[in-house]
Amino acid sequence: MNQDELKAAVADAAIKEIEPQLEKDTVLGIGTGSTANLFIDRLGPLRDRFKGAVASSNASAERLKKLGIDVFELNSVGTVPFYIDGADEVNANLHMIKGGGAALTCEKIVAACAKRFICIADGSKYVPQLGSFPLPVEVIPMARSYVARELVALGAEPVYRQGVVTDNGNQIIDCFEFTIADPVAMEARINAIVGVVTNGLFAARGADVLLLGKAEGVERIA
Ligand code: 5RP
Repeated sequence: MNQDELKAAVADAAIKEIEPQLEKDTVLGIGTGSTANLFIDRLGPLRDRFKGAVASSNASAERLKKLGIDVFELNSVGTVPFYIDGADEVNANLHMIKGGGAALTCEKIVAACAKRFICIADGSKYVPQLGSFPLPVEVIPMARSYVARELVALGAEPVYRQGVVTDNGNQIIDCFEFTIADPVAMEARINAIVGVVTNGLFAARGADVLLLGKAEGVERIA
């Protein structure tokens, strides 16, 4: 199976995971990226079984709407029973690096409001230690150089993601060559830098369930 087929397999598995629990008043939290897109596509035929969705990006909101799924503001919803999203890296503790698609802040906000975070990822995303994938940090534009200097002091090689503006109007710095021995501590440390909106470590609130696509089938890790 190639990577796209593995992504499709975990999207199918996520549908199986949530389908029995869909109710007329259910509002789902929906992530961003190619794996999340495959999940969104599979939600289309089920749209009459639940109320709608909260999206973690404008792109996901548009995709949901095109399938006839109602999209709600998070402020009008409160909690969501499930948040379903991909990851750039995930470890055995279900800590993740996310934000390859620059949607990390809204992803983290919707995830914070979810009772269960279901991570869907192909096997290449499963790593013994986070950090090979460059860690994204969303910054207020005027703070970019200051934040970059602080990230150097933490041991990272920060690179400005040129030409990218987040849905919140901010910029992204990617941290290369970064050893992340303690994801929970590093998430808090980076978020404490003035000018950082959030960083792509999802460790304080990791996933509750990982559906991992492998050649031999989808492994469920919880
Ligand atoms: C977007 C994300 C995505 O979940 C992450 O980049 C994984 O994307 P894909 O499913 O395309 O590999 O965090 O900000």
